[in-house]
Amino acid sequence: MCSIIGYYGNSNAAPILVKGLRRMEYRGYDSVGIATKSNNQILVKKGVGKVDEVNNMFHLDKLPGNVGLGHTRWATHGKVTDANAHPHSSNSGKIAIVHNGIIENFSELKAELQKEGYTFQSETDSEVIANLLQKNFDDTSDIKSSIRATISRLNGHYAFVAMFENGTLAAARYHEPLIVGVGEDDYFLSSDVLGFIERTDDAIYLDNGNFALIDPSGLKLYNFEGELIKYNITKVSKEFADAYKGDYAHYTLKEISEQPDTVLKAGENTQDAITQTIDFIKHAKTVYITGSGTSYNAALVAKYLMSKYAKIKIEPIISSELPHDPESIEQNSILIAISQSGESADVLEAVRIAKNSNAKVLSIVNLLTSSLVQESSLVIGMNCGPEIGVAATKSFTSQLAILYKIADGLCNGCLKPDFDKASKAISKILSNHSKIKKIARELKEVSDIYILGRGINYPIASEAALKLKELTYIHAEGIPGGELKHGPLALMDSNVYVVILNPDDSTYNDTLTSANEIKARGAKIIGISDKKSDIYDHWIEIPKVDESLYPLIEIVPIQLLAYYCALEKDADPDYPRNLAKSVTVR
Ligand code: AGP
Repeated sequence: MCSIIGYYGNSNAAPILVKGLRRMEYRGYDSVGIATKSNNQILVKKGVGKVDEVNNMFHLDKLPGNVGLGHTRWATHGKVTDANAHPHSSNSGKIAIVHNGIIENFSELKAELQKEGYTFQSETDSEVIANLLQKNFDDTSDIKSSIRATISRLNGHYAFVAMFENGTLAAARYHEPLIVGVGEDDYFLSSDVLGFIERTDDAIYLDNGNFALIDPSGLKLYNFEGELIKYNITKVSKEFADAYKGDYAHYTLKEISEQPDTVLKAGENTQDAITQTIDFIKHAKTVYITGSGTSYNAALVAKYLMSKYAKIKIEPIISSELPHDPESIEQNSILIAISQSGESADVLEAVRIAKNSNAKVLSIVNLLTSSLVQESSLVIGMNCGPEIGVAATKSFTSQLAILYKIADGLCNGCLKPDFDKASKAISKILSNHSKIKKIARELKEVSDIYILGRGINYPIASEAALKLKELTYIHAEGIPGGELKHGPLALMDSNVYVVILNPDDSTYNDTLTSANEIKARGAKIIGISDKKSDIYDHWIEIPKVDESLYPLIEIVPIQLLAYYCALEKDADPDYPRNLAKSVTVR
């Protein structure tokens, strides 16, 4: 959720750190800070706001020194304040740290350190790492031993970088991502390759339970037992360098606009894994499918696709719910885990629980260097390129495209999804900006939006509601059409807007009936359909496609609607308040 970065080399550290943090801001963005080492002193600057705001105020990028570390925060322990922003210094000021993750036993450690006279400036769990390191370093005068002694006391999950007064950088990884970038004459430590991709494409993916030391003798990696370990340098795919907005005002708009291409490329490089997945599902007794947020909505679409076309039952599970019902996983089953980032803590926990019941884990992931990939027997890559906007857009349609391919394989080609046609349909929808912008202007003042869909369109209604909530902060709720009369109809009046997902499929007539019931109560109706109807106050036309493909295209106008409505409300569509792109805490 937070991003951490470190630099060790011959260049000015501060501008490199600030640039890296800017590129990783999607991970967390409520406060920012960096520390550098200059003239045997550790200098720290930090504050509340986004990277550019804090940099403009405090000139972080002007700090002197060739070694440093930095952080963007997404608050978990303690409010969004300057004091809670990282880096945190130890009491002596001789060690500074940045941390991503949660130290579960921080209260106990803090009390222990306080008894020994240590004081704390923040409400964070992270600050204990700085003082614990100092205590252990003062005891041993040895950096490696102090790291090991500190790690041995930490419970929870973490990646941290520590800078010592002599300029040595140390970093440890335990269930949070940490990557070392290897330049010609410098090193980078980062939560994501985006933190250093402009400087080097040589990377070492630290294994869980390893730590790194960087000093004038170079880089050394150790396991938590203190044994030196060998490492492999991997070439990072240049596609990560694509993570620029280009001419687009926002990443979110860029990513929505990429969908005509990304639906065509979904799963492209992992076709074999798709074939094997189909085979595994065919022979499995029980198949579960899990994810969080948008990825869970994709899992719900899969349930409908598999039962309708392949006559196979798969059970969707919200990842964060599985820890409360772990016995529901049958022995020797299959779990399909869907995750854009591959780092969602809830999804990783669901995978762990399923593995305890000997389930085979197959995953659909965008980031192929993620923890979920390491945990899976088989991986299908979404192949949609980096998704920076916090709201998932192109990754959702890529997930759907892959699920269509799997369903098609399972029903021996009964679906034949025409992705070319879907791609053209999405392009057509994307050319309709002006109409959608107009509706967004009207929605700006609204406090409740309901989205209605039946059958396979219902998960799209849920996804639409999620997009509207995230981007516009308007209360939005997806409703299965038939449920309207069982409660939600009581909410319908002239202040309410209802988006009706009404493609010309088998749900069309029933959904039109629901629209009439809503209209009779005075609510305004936005119809998303390939068929015009007078009942719609606003009609957003979608092209006609094969019946099975409507879910893939009908989400796109709502992504655009949510984006433009966010702009109308002066909300930042790329970085919605209180959210983060990778939710690595449970
Ligand atoms: C989607 O717009 C959200 N930002 C969020 O629900 C997201 O889909 C969820 O956190 C899961 O992320 P993942 O796909 O990276 O696991």
